Amino acid sequence: MNNIYLIGFMGAGKTTVGKELSERLGRKLLDTDQCIVEQEGMSIAEIFEKRGEKCFRDAETACIKSLGAEENCVISCGGGVVLREENVAAMKRTGVIVLIEASVEVILERVSRNSNRPLLEGKKNIADIQAMMDARLPHYRSAADIIVYSDEGSASRVAEDIVARIP
Ligand code: S3P
Repeated sequence: MNNIYLIGFMGAGKTTVGKELSERLGRKLLDTDQCIVEQEGMSIAEIFEKRGEKCFRDAETACIKSLGAEENCVISCGGGVVLREENVAAMKRTGVIVLIEASVEVILERVSRNSNRPLLEGKKNIADIQAMMDARLPHYRSAADIIVYSDEGSASRVAEDIVARIP
């Protein structure tokens, strides 16, 4: 209960902003991807490769539900968490949902730095990311209680913005 859920597209800054926010508020930081890795005993890339996306999404739903039982935590969520309505409902019941938005250009620059996101393999270009963003943005926006932007300024500035706006 009373958790702060950070949602948004891959590369929007959920992990870095989550760290800042948890330090500022003195709250524990949790992460759905980390929960999935611990639960399944393999990396995100391996889960996608060996078991497929459906298995990953099932594990993600299980994690969102179990992490929701925690109190007063900052919970950084995988970018696809909003794709299942039951995940959004579980988050709404147990906290406030903060959407971190970034432009497709900034996202491309950030995700190009590493190769740990199976859904972006071979798709690190503006057109493909824009297409995924177009499909997801309505889900992100309808789930969000608060929206912040991370293109400009540091993670610390974004965290400050969130602190100022959480009820
Ligand atoms: C995904 C985002 C990833 C991770 C998985 C799927 C998505 O998390 O959960 O690769 O569907 O957007 P990040 O948003 O932390 O990169």
